[in-house]
Amino acid sequence: MIALNEKLNQWAHEYYVKDMPTVEDAEYDKIYHQLVELEATFPDLVTSDSITQRIGGEILTGFNKVEHQVPMMSLNNAFNKGDLLDFDKRIKKLTDKEIQYMVELKIDGLAINLRYENGLFIQGATRGDGVIGEDITQNLKTVMSIPLKLKQPIDIEVRGECYMPKKSFIQLNEAREADGENVFANPRNAAAGSLRQLDSKITAKRNLSTFIYTVAETSSFDFSTQAASLDELDIIGFKTNHQRQLCQSIEDVWDYIENFLDKRNELDYEIDGIVIKVNDFSAQKDIGFTVKAPRWAIAYKFPAEEAETIIRDIEWTVGRTGVVTPTAVMDPVQLAGTTVSRASLHNVDLIKEKDIRLLDSVMIHKAGDIIPEVTRVLVDKRRTDSKVYEFPTHCPACGSELERIESEVALRCMNPMCPAQIKEGLNHFVSRNAMNIDGLGPRVLEQMYDKEIIKNVADLYFVTEEELLTLDKIKEKSANNILTAINNSKTNSLEKLLFGLGIQHVGSKAAKLIAEKFKELDAVMSATKEEVSGIDTIGPVIADSLEKYFANEEVHELIAELKRAEINLTYLGKTLEDLSHVESPFKDKTIVLTGKLTHFNRNEAKEKIEALGGKVTGSVSKKTDIVVAGEEAGSKLEKALKLEVTVWNEEQMVSAIENSTKVE
Ligand code: IVH
Repeated sequence: MIALNEKLNQWAHEYYVKDMPTVEDAEYDKIYHQLVELEATFPDLVTSDSITQRIGGEILTGFNKVEHQVPMMSLNNAFNKGDLLDFDKRIKKLTDKEIQYMVELKIDGLAINLRYENGLFIQGATRGDGVIGEDITQNLKTVMSIPLKLKQPIDIEVRGECYMPKKSFIQLNEAREADGENVFANPRNAAAGSLRQLDSKITAKRNLSTFIYTVAETSSFDFSTQAASLDELDIIGFKTNHQRQLCQSIEDVWDYIENFLDKRNELDYEIDGIVIKVNDFSAQKDIGFTVKAPRWAIAYKFPAEEAETIIRDIEWTVGRTGVVTPTAVMDPVQLAGTTVSRASLHNVDLIKEKDIRLLDSVMIHKAGDIIPEVTRVLVDKRRTDSKVYEFPTHCPACGSELERIESEVALRCMNPMCPAQIKEGLNHFVSRNAMNIDGLGPRVLEQMYDKEIIKNVADLYFVTEEELLTLDKIKEKSANNILTAINNSKTNSLEKLLFGLGIQHVGSKAAKLIAEKFKELDAVMSATKEEVSGIDTIGPVIADSLEKYFANEEVHELIAELKRAEINLTYLGKTLEDLSHVESPFKDKTIVLTGKLTHFNRNEAKEKIEALGGKVTGSVSKKTDIVVAGEEAGSKLEKALKLEVTVWNEEQMVSAIENSTKVE
């Protein structure tokens, strides 16, 4: 177990700290699961630095307060070259020593303090007011770049910045917008929101990272410079920022800053400035501190990149779940390296809050240095005839009335026949976890819709070969494949259809639970909210959404069409395929059978494993997941042991097969 954990931690370190992955994901997953299995068998042997501890755990009711051993100070700011020259002069008055500056990026995230005892991560805290912060150890354990165990068994306290990479920020906001949730204004807020979660499982999903920039306290090392201490932080396992540079003069510092004014847009994390620190610790000591901040360091703050433009229009677009989102259409302006003419306004509340109106002059900036956003309205420049913006009351694509769902900031089109939703909905309907219809990619579906071959998901079941042949790049063979795939999907179990309909909040898991409980689509349609929310793990949000959906007359028409197409509307229980999908330990695994089997012969065992989603091959390699060794197993077993492949005896295989098939 220790060896597996060390291996996994080493790989994670190479991936998350060094940014240099050394193994395939599949290999990592394989070893990870071996460790999970072993830990389940020997729970007493699970160590606090086990990589499995990073997925998050119990839900807290609040955060404990933590008093910092050494206060977390802040930095004085510089806004131009003059401020920096003054800083340089002050420094030189306070010490006779030769001055070099360590110049670092000022990462725009949240300051964190990490404590290690004997090399083990024991506490992580926020800055708070600098003296007292909050204990967010549980959440920080889920941040993969924070080592749970250092390369040396030392006591040390370090500080750094926890941040959300721009890419993750964009993905998170896209997902939140699609779900009608509030978006985060910038990566910093997103990181703060993620670290403030009482449920660390949520933090674990947020893909946060860190850069450590200082040692707050340790008796293990005696460095003489900031440069040396950062190098040591690297060596003992922390992620430090490698854009740092040692500068010989304040002129060199200015060159570095000018270079980053352009380069900052290329980084995959946000920076809000550059930190300049006196490199030599004995010189730092000479120079000293004010009450609030060190005198030996300063933060150069970038001027906010903003541009002024005029809002010409607000466009509303409809997504798959019917969420209607506003986009400002503006006069094109240059901003942080690109021409910007559109900016998402996210939702109704944002427009109200900022009181954005047509023809307003506005300032725009880029959140996460990428996404253009309206910062504020220049009210002084507002036209005298300006009127408060009136929100659409009807869907821009289909004209049906828009609804504003309580507790959501989104406007939503509830009409399932809405053309904009249908195109998105068609893609969802054919997707793997839904009706799983192969050959119908987005381009094919779009053509079918535009040529009026289909209007909704039910029409798919009445498509003819002649119609398919009118589409670009569809020949007889692919047309036939598509028709077969459509036809095969008619016998899917109810949950696939229920998920495929794309009802808001009804994901594939909820669909399965609902189908399991009510068995027939008609029963689902007439179920009360109470009955639905009575299902374990299904809450009132899903129950409400389901009721609303099935109350729609147009949905009834759609269902009538699906019935006419003779689609199965019954829950079929777990099929073998589903089974292997959910429960079988053989799913997507490569298995080698060796030695004499007594329960089944080789072929029977092979068939059963394959029916449960496994692949049975003849020879053992690194890619093999499990070797089942019967009596008198020989060279294949030896090879498996050498390659550290999991080895099962026949009993283990038989019980795994039985347990898989027993599940209802
Ligand atoms: S050194 C004595 N270095 O900027 C204070 N701070 O007001 C030492 N920050 O919230 C801070 N990147 O978390 C330092 N490379 C860096 C930094 C950095 C970001 C943050 C810090 C604090 C603020 C300073």
